[in-house]
Amino acid sequence: MSRFPDVMKLRILCYPDPRLRDHAGDLKDTGSLVKEITLRMAELMGEAGGVGLAATQVGWPYRFVVLNTTGEPGKIEAYLNPEIIAREGKVVAEEGCLSLPGLWAKVRRAERVRVRATRADGEVVEFDAEGLAARAWQHEIDHLEGGLFVDRVGAAAKILLRPRLHSLEKEYKLLLPSDEAKKKK
Ligand code: NI
Repeated sequence: MSRFPDVMKLRILCYPDPRLRDHAGDLKDTGSLVKEITLRMAELMGEAGGVGLAATQVGWPYRFVVLNTTGEPGKIEAYLNPEIIAREGKVVAEEGCLSLPGLWAKVRRAERVRVRATRADGEVVEFDAEGLAARAWQHEIDHLEGGLFVDRVGAAAKILLRPRLHSLEKEYKLLLPSDEAKKKK
């Protein structure tokens, strides 16, 4: 995908879109494109009622995330090149994903994480996150590495998820232009 997407055309991609498996590259600039993408991703995340959205989820393969872990409307945080530099504790809790609608499963995550990231104004910051924010950070950083939460679910639990995964696969195929339609063009 082009480095400069048509921002209004960005949509949340759904499993099994192969772009969800992209490994995001480092983001070097903090100019107007980042501002535009922040607004668009915040809008998409708000409409879908999410607490986090990674750029790979809208088909823009750069290390960039927006979060709203406080639940307060409009309180959007945007970070470039985030990484988890320390993890502590273990906790299992239910998780979902805007790219896997209608699907939830229990996932084991670190209870607390320390994050290093660049804010949209260019300042490098380090901070601790716990609770929902710690979970959201781990989930979003997985997205930047092509990971989905269902990859972290055990084999037994995955059997329960299979029917829903299959129906998402079917919906995805229906949305793709068929080979027949391509030939006719
Ligand atoms: Ni997700």
